[in-house]
Amino acid sequence: MAERRLKIALTKGRVEKQVVPILEKAGINCDQIRNKQRRLIFNSDSQPYQFILAKGPDVTTFLERGAADIGIVGSDILTEHQSSQYELLDLNVGRCQFVLASTKEFNPKAPKRKIIGTKYPVITKHYFDSLGQDAEIIKIEGSVELAPLTGLADAIVDITETGTTIRENNLKIFDYLDKVSTRLVVNRMALKQRPEMIFEFVDRLKAVVENEKMGQAQ
Ligand code: PRP
Repeated sequence: MAERRLKIALTKGRVEKQVVPILEKAGINCDQIRNKQRRLIFNSDSQPYQFILAKGPDVTTFLERGAADIGIVGSDILTEHQSSQYELLDLNVGRCQFVLASTKEFNPKAPKRKIIGTKYPVITKHYFDSLGQDAEIIKIEGSVELAPLTGLADAIVDITETGTTIRENNLKIFDYLDKVSTRLVVNRMALKQRPEMIFEFVDRLKAVVENEKMGQAQ
């Protein structure tokens, strides 16, 4: 019987857009993903790979439950979801950084208990714990920048990539937290069961990532 396909959960959206060119440079045809419309699962024509397009937090769930062997997802999601999956490669794309931001009137040193809006309550709590401060955290699903602008929160903890959203909404950065990038993680059981297949896939991508890094350094 033919060996079953390697199941690769790829975060759809920004991560997908930056990772597809890496997959292509690694010799994996991604025409189906590029022309996917509303489809979510793709079997490679010439390689034993199956790509599953999912939201970032769900990529960690697929891996934890063994429904995917490999996950390609931002380190922000992995940290927030306290994922224990094994990281094999930093793809060096999706690079951004967590920041504490607010309107210019915000005083981070004010002694009052702060109200913080964020999509990342675990990371935010960890940050304020490390400062020895007790903050009230409000979970927000998107457009987090609205929180200080509308009075919903005193400040936000969010990721910034180009800085455009912060700038265009007249917000200011008050502190820099962890850096973020897209990672390749693997389910430990899958790694035990099909190491050759997994390392063959990872090595293909690693060669492209190293090559791109050398190009950037020149
Ligand atoms: C993210 C993040 C910021 C924005 C930062 O949101 O939460 O809002 O990107 O990017 P920039 O520094 O390049 O402007 P995303 O676009 O993922 O969508 P969201 O508003 O639904 O959170």
